[in-house]
Amino acid sequence: MECRICSGGLRPFADFGRQPVSDAFVAPGDPAPEFFFHLAVAVCEDCSMVQLLEEVPREKMFHDGYPYLSSGSAVMREHFAGVARRLLATELTGPDPFVVELGCNDGTMLKTVAEAGVRHLGVEPSGGVGRRAAARGVRVREGFFEAAAAAEILAEDGPADVVYAANTLCHIPYMDSILRGVDTLLRPGGVLVFEDPYLGDIVARSSFDQIYDEHFYFFCATSVRAMARRHGFELVDVERLPVHGGEVRYTLARQGARTPGPAVAGLLAEEEAAGLTEPATLRAFASRVAANRESLVALLEGLRDEGARVCGYGATAKSATVLNYCGIGPELVPFICDTTPAKQGRLTPGSHIPVREPGAFADPYPDYALLLAWNHAEEIMAKETAFREAGGTWILYVPEVHLV
Ligand code: SAM
Ligand code: TMP
Ligand code: ZN
Repeated sequence: MECRICSGGLRPFADFGRQPVSDAFVAPGDPAPEFFFHLAVAVCEDCSMVQLLEEVPREKMFHDGYPYLSSGSAVMREHFAGVARRLLATELTGPDPFVVELGCNDGTMLKTVAEAGVRHLGVEPSGGVGRRAAARGVRVREGFFEAAAAAEILAEDGPADVVYAANTLCHIPYMDSILRGVDTLLRPGGVLVFEDPYLGDIVARSSFDQIYDEHFYFFCATSVRAMARRHGFELVDVERLPVHGGEVRYTLARQGARTPGPAVAGLLAEEEAAGLTEPATLRAFASRVAANRESLVALLEGLRDEGARVCGYGATAKSATVLNYCGIGPELVPFICDTTPAKQGRLTPGSHIPVREPGAFADPYPDYALLLAWNHAEEIMAKETAFREAGGTWILYVPEVHLV
């Protein structure tokens, strides 16, 4: 196996075994066999990029029925409105500016840009969510972004001032085609801005459930800078973000076009001092994850034996890794409630736990709720205060198993 970025040697450090497609929720009674793959993660000895060893074909993940909606969290809606306002105020100030978003999903970010009357295009291969964006007045091109698509967009719309992507670039193994496409599409002084889960937070919080089919790369400043330079770009800014359990927003500009800000050297130095991509650090992470699995399974089995009532909260893509890696099925967690219409009435991939509408949570409240959407803990706990008032207890497993 070689690095998907630089063809260097890969050093595997954690293995989660056989896993399903994380967003492939199963319709009860559907006879079609589920697709499984081997989920294991490695670091490149040359460019430090942390990546999956096996790639799931993109059409199995991103298609008309892709269920995830960006608008499912109030905090994320506010986050993306803020992103749009900031891009409008900083990068999109010239005459007739143009922004392209990769993976615009249901248009949560571009909606604000459209409302401001600024030229934009969302590129979205998942037709169902893309139509939701279009219904909000967002201009959408259905299909995968890659080098060929970039050339077509350039021919139709001209060069872009900004290419933006949230929780999308880390989903795309074929980064060479993406960065060639961005190079084609951006005007000379334009920028690529992208935000994704940060390897530093994943390691610090032992948040192993960030590792699943869709998350192919686990970026950090060190690996992103190396990746950028291979394509004539420079990492000119980094910003840590509190969303989704800890992310970093990276800004890339063409080499020589902008001077890197001080935050870049700061984060690179932090990563170096922590030995973030050193094999010993990553092996220690893998050991903490294995211990975490033991504790979570022991807790849930103990609760089952006591006859406690347990449910799951948030049928996240992340939860596919937790449930399948830990062997948690309906006998330990009888159902999971989730606000996403396309997940409700279905079974979680691989683990086959029924997903129910949010109203099922309080009807009646369980004794314990396993918070699978722990990255939205603040938002969820704020709206579900009645659960604890009724005597309920949250179970969290990041950074380690604990009760709240
Ligand atoms: N940007 C949104 C957010 O942060 O909430 C959506 C993130 S969702 C996890 C990833 C999105 O990327 C999906 O809507 C998927 O269809 C899209 N996607 C996957 N591969 C892509 C590609 N090559 N070009 C554009 N979008 C892609
Ligand atoms: P995410 O962690 O990938 O954003 O997925 C969050 C999942 O949790 C998504 O399926 C929606 C669900 N969810 C709820 O059910 N209730 C909530 O209050 C929030 C914020 C999310
Ligand atoms: Zn590499």
